[in-house]
Amino acid sequence: MISPLNIVVLISGNGSNLQAIIDAISRYRLPIIIKAVICNTTGAYGLERADKANIPTQILSPADFQDRNAYDQSLGDCIARYNPDLIVLAGFMRILSNIILSRFQDKIINIHPSLLPKYPGLNTHESAVAAGDFEHGCTIHFVNENLDAGPIIAQAAISVKAEDTAETLKAKVHQAEHFLYPTVIHWFAHKRVNFHDAQVYLDNVPLSETGLKFLINQGL
Ligand code: GRF
Repeated sequence: MISPLNIVVLISGNGSNLQAIIDAISRYRLPIIIKAVICNTTGAYGLERADKANIPTQILSPADFQDRNAYDQSLGDCIARYNPDLIVLAGFMRILSNIILSRFQDKIINIHPSLLPKYPGLNTHESAVAAGDFEHGCTIHFVNENLDAGPIIAQAAISVKAEDTAETLKAKVHQAEHFLYPTVIHWFAHKRVNFHDAQVYLDNVPLSETGLKFLINQGL
């Protein structure tokens, strides 16, 4: 028996990725415990999802803090109370400063709705449509000081059809995300992911060598 992976999930909104993680843990009895969900906005639907799953929630509203440093100090204290093995950003719409990054080095992962390094930042689906891309998707990466540019852990790709719009792509990418995020967190639970010497390893093989990317085409 392995000891369970303790995670804290940070959200800002709908929390469909949070839900996918909750559902995968219970459906497949994954050795993962969501110790808390932390949110920076009041009234986010993701908070209801956490409540329904009996997961403790914390709301840290930026308006209650003097500046970014004060917020990040308090966010760090809040995270640290749960002593997580992994901090999972799931639609958390704030950039984390070095106060957090240095405190939880190599322990923070994020999911981004594009095949990075393409389209960091916002409006990724609009960008993929405008560029006429044949392929789009999502990326899970370690968070570092560069926005959406930390070391990549895994990607899931979907094919873009002629009739696709930003809206349809968003829905397809969400489906891919809901598959990929629980899968990758499960890898962490089994200690299959390592990061050292500026390389991400899966089962001790550098990911830059495997070029691992799931192709999700069925029905999407
Ligand atoms: C996802 O598309 C994720 O890639 C991005 O924010 C979105 C969050 O969606 N970082 P949800 O709140 O999990 O539904």
